Amino acid sequence: MTTALDSVLTAGVYDHLLGGGYNFALDRVVATRILKIAPQARTWARASRSFVREAVLRMVAAGVRQIIDLGCGVPSVIATHEIAPTCRVLYVDTDPVVVECNRLHIRNQLIADAVQADLRDVGAVMRHWLIDPDEPVGLLMGAVLHHVPDPTSAITEYRARCAPGSLLAASHVSGERLSPVQRQQLARLFSRFGITVADRNSAQFARLLGAWEPSGLLPLPLGYATVAGGVGSRPGGGVRAAAAVERQA
Ligand SMILES: C[S@@+](CC[C@H](N)C(=O)[O-])C[C@H]1O[C@@H](n2cnc3c(N)ncnc32)[C@H](O)[C@@H]1O
Repeated sequence: MTTALDSVLTAGVYDHLLGGGYNFALDRVVATRILKIAPQARTWARASRSFVREAVLRMVAAGVRQIIDLGCGVPSVIATHEIAPTCRVLYVDTDPVVVECNRLHIRNQLIADAVQADLRDVGAVMRHWLIDPDEPVGLLMGAVLHHVPDPTSAITEYRARCAPGSLLAASHVSGERLSPVQRQQLARLFSRFGITVADRNSAQFARLLGAWEPSGLLPLPLGYATVAGGVGSRPGGGVRAAAAVERQA
């Protein structure tokens, strides 16, 4: 059996980039190597996390009272139910260690739960007891889609299953501004440690969200500016994050 001690937690690597405390030795080794290849990765991770936080606040302000945090990762810095204490929050992740970390973090919370599931298993996610399919849902896909090779039909299915007024917030990292050498080095590193990465450019990411309509809450160009602008404007910036908040009509 592999454990958190002998396999890399994608969420742990990300957590270490964010300066959190939910990571293991191997996660820190991988994070350090990423930073050697692409020093901007830390800035990108922080920008994406800020985007997710802002998206949650805007979802709450728009009246959302239930949030599904898909590919939730470990509860770095501040967890979704702490940003949105008035909401029911379902944490979903494929990684059992990540799910356990979230369960520990939310113990005694009556309106939050954490489950192990693939975000592409839309039926299982939407059938969870915390979620009322007749009420608007806030769907978070923060820094997860670049780990999923084929999420298009799931994103479309969420749109079909979520009540009108639902909102989707997603962020995505892209290597489009990295040099070919950096991309090659990163690809080798990820493959060596078994981390799946689907490298998409901003246009491909925007197309992924195609089934959802722009919400105007954090429109696509502003979303890009919120996350990638800060990163892209840095001299020599390489890692690019893209983000958007879309609304179910
Ligand atoms: C970089 S972390 C993102 C953490 C958090 N969403 C955030 O924005 O700060 C990516 C997480 O997605 C999870 N993940 C990867 N593929 C997934 C899938 N198909 N379904 C659900 N979770 C997935 C990983 O296990 C990891 O915990």
